This record gives sequence, C-alpha cells and structure tokens, in this order.
Amino acid sequence: MLTEVTATRYITPLREGGSLPGLVEADRRGTFGTYVIKFTGAGQGRKTLVAEVICGALARRLGLRVPPLVGIRLDPVLGLGEPDPEVQELLKSSGGLNLGMDYLPGAIGFDSLAYQVDPLEAGRIVWFDALVGNVDRSWRNPNLLVWRGDLWLIDHGATMIWHHNWPTAKAGAARAYDASDHALAPFAPDIAAAAAELAPRVTEELLTEVVADVPDVWLTGETGFDSPDDVRRAYVSALLSRAASVHERITLGTPAARPRAMAPGWATADGSSRNASSGKGEAA
Ligand SMILES: Nc1ncnc2c1ncn2[C@@H]1O[C@H](COP(=O)(O)OP(=O)(O)O)[C@@H](O)[C@H]1O
Ligand SMILES: [Mg+2]
Repeated sequence: MLTEVTATRYITPLREGGSLPGLVEADRRGTFGTYVIKFTGAGQGRKTLVAEVICGALARRLGLRVPPLVGIRLDPVLGLGEPDPEVQELLKSSGGLNLGMDYLPGAIGFDSLAYQVDPLEAGRIVWFDALVGNVDRSWRNPNLLVWRGDLWLIDHGATMIWHHNWPTAKAGAARAYDASDHALAPFAPDIAAAAAELAPRVTEELLTEVVADVPDVWLTGETGFDSPDDVRRAYVSALLSRAASVHERITLGTPAARPRAMAPGWATADGSSRNASSGKGEAA
C-alpha cells in the first residue's frame, strides 16, 4: 500500500518532461519537503501511474535508487487560482488519488559527459529497463537524475507497453530489448553480472508484494479482468516470465554507431554541437 497524503498547495509545473508533472506541498511533508505529483488526469492516463508504481517499487526492492512514492489526494479546487489554463485543466481533471514522489531538491539531469557510471551499475539499470521494457531512458531523454553524487531513476510511465493490450502480454514478455540508444549504453553495462545478481531476486513473492502497492482505483474496471487482484496477477506473470532470460535478448548495438553524448558546443573541440537533438517530438 502506498502511503497517502493530501495536497495543500500547487507550487509549479515541471516543464522538462512531456506530461507536465507538478511540484506540490502536502499535509504531511515528504522526506525532503515537497512532492512531485503525476496527475491521474494527464493525457497518458492511469496506466502510466500504474507503471510508475510497479517499476518504482520493483526497482527500489532491487536496490536501485528511485525517489520514494506516495499517493497524493487532490481537491480540484486547488486549480481554481491557476493562471495557466493547461495546468488548471490538469488539476480540475485529477480529483482523487494521484501519484507522488519525493522531490529531490537540487538534483540535476544526467549528462554522460559530466558523470561516469560504473559498468556494474550501468548493467543493473539496463537490465532492469529491459525487464520492464522501458523505452524512455535514451541518451536524448535519460530520465536519470544525479543527486548528492548518486544516480537516481525517474519516470517509468513508458514501460510494460503490453499492458495497453493485455492479449499481447504473453508474447510481449518474450520481446527483445534494444538498448543501443540507452543513456548508459556508452558505459559498457555488465548485463551478465546484473542478470546473475538480480534475476533470482525477481520472484513471484517479490512481484506480488510490488503490485500490492498499486491502488485499487487504478486497476478497477480493466477490460477482461474480474477484479484488481486479477490484473495484479497478470503483471506478476508477465514480469516473472521475462525475468529469467531477458538478459539474452538485450542488444547494445555497435559502439561506433552509438552517440557518445549530447555534447554542447562549448564542450566540443570545434565548438559545434555534437549529436545534439532538439528533443522536440521525443517522448519525455
Ligand atoms: N523526484 C524528482 N526530484 C527532482 N526533480 C524531478 C523529480 N521527478 C521529476 N523531476 C524533474 O521533472 C522532469 C519531468 O519529470 P518526469 O518524471 O520525467 O515526467 P515526464 O513524464 O513529463 O517526462 C524531470 O525531467 C526532472 O527534471
Ligand atoms: Mg521524463
């Protein structure tokens, strides 16, 4: 079960990403004061939040760093004073339970030129992303933060795409994972070591514990399922069947073809922007 808090003040939108999460204060302070809120009324829908909870809880249990998650109750009345119509609309359509996570104050976006990742840690993260089919950890859009010298994982909404079409989930579990564009591909991720360490820990018991964190309201009424627990079992089964052998289906591409980093002009010898991407049109 997620701890639940109630939002008391909407502070500001976080505009780096695509889904317009926000910063809020709540009746109970997070570890570091405020929370990042991800709205149930956002265009991507409640499955994004289910994915955040399952992946966040699983990653944390596997020893990866993810900010602690909470449920955030929101009274849409908080949106009334918002000048930005887009924000107001989001708040108005997100009454009830939303997802929150501890805001890491002063965290900076991961930059592969400025931060070295050791192959074991890179391997664990790539292996985990392969397990959950994360398509949102590319060098263009790493969804990794560096905070107090450590790497933290955020944004797991674009994972487990099979849950958008459950009849395909079984086949989805056997799918390969192309990590050529992964933000940590340049760090020689040790996939074999990660698989040996982490795969045996992804047991039915652990996954059952993880999916218990997903609030019932985000699972009720799922087509083809009788109850929230029925949906939870489907997640357990999809992830369990993938865990043992997913490492055999991870491709890292050829190093030569891989962009080293998004080097800004000032960091390259000739002052040109190397491999820079506008980021426009990318999932964030
Ligand atoms: N827990 C957090 N602590 C600090 N900053 C965060 C946190 N979560 C998100 N952010 C900031 O907000 C941005 C958008 O969050 P993200 O989860 O990536 O949402 P989106 O789905 O919009 O991409 C991130 O790129 C990061 O800059
Ligand atoms: Mg993002």
